[in-house]
Amino acid sequence: MKLIEKSEEVVRLTGGWREEGRRIVLVPTMGWFHEGHLSLMRLARSLGTRTIVSLFVNPIQFGPREDLAAYPRDLDRDRRLAEQEGVDALFAPVAEEMFEPEFQTRVSLSRISRGLCGADRPGHFDGVATIVTKLFHLMTPHVAVFGEKDLQQLALIRRMVRDLNFQIEIVGHPIVREKDGLALSSRNSYLTAAERQTALCLSQAIGQARDTVRDSSNTTSVADLIAGAIAFINAHEGCQVDYVTIVDRWSLAPGTTINQDSVMALAVKINGRVRLIDNGLLL
Ligand code: PAJ
Repeated sequence: MKLIEKSEEVVRLTGGWREEGRRIVLVPTMGWFHEGHLSLMRLARSLGTRTIVSLFVNPIQFGPREDLAAYPRDLDRDRRLAEQEGVDALFAPVAEEMFEPEFQTRVSLSRISRGLCGADRPGHFDGVATIVTKLFHLMTPHVAVFGEKDLQQLALIRRMVRDLNFQIEIVGHPIVREKDGLALSSRNSYLTAAERQTALCLSQAIGQARDTVRDSSNTTSVADLIAGAIAFINAHEGCQVDYVTIVDRWSLAPGTTINQDSVMALAVKINGRVRLIDNGLLL
């Protein structure tokens, strides 16, 4: 596996692949790989003939009060794991390589950035859209793989690709979970053993809502499903609901009725310290 730090070099490498007629699949990440990331890499390998992973902790998607400096990093470990998955190249630039001091451009989506996680994290999704645009231009993939764990991010990238005519196919990967239901996340490493137990209430809340919806005698309204999930989560000590909502998985528009595309999405702070997200289809 090639380890690349310079933009010119990644342009040259992927340009060469294009000329050879390779089908390039990109997996953008911020590193600290867990089974979720590795599953994306496996899917990526099955979708093309060259797999490239980017590893970049993107400063412009972190807010002033967020955990940029503390974000976990271990390039040596990540490099080994990616290599074991058969990835062809890992692009891991330093921040100065991606952002010159005079950098001043943003790719900004309006409606789709505002609700859910966007409400609490102004500028976050512009930062994501901007870095992903840069990665797409540098590596010109045919396909890019993103996890459904970050529902809003995936919907936003799909929207951006259509709006800006990127000739790139976006493929979503289902959420990878621990056996007990906890969605894998780099931020899980911030949790104590007790907090990790508490954090199970996120996936349980979604599971309960799904059970309610699937019960054939169900007449529960969307508002009651949301209220039920909030009450359930708040009953867990140290859990504070950021939001619970039911939206269309593509447009993120709030739903008034439940259909095949209805997703319950939620964000919860554990002991005011670690913010976790989760989502799941209701039907
Ligand atoms: P990061 O948080 O490192 O996630 C990289 C990719 O892994 C994302 O597409 C994310 O949705 C996916 N992922 C994380 N946990 C997952 C899980 N449990 N199951 C399935 N997929 C999972 O998301 C980012 O980085 C950044 O915002 C990025 C897109 C790289 C832009 O900077």
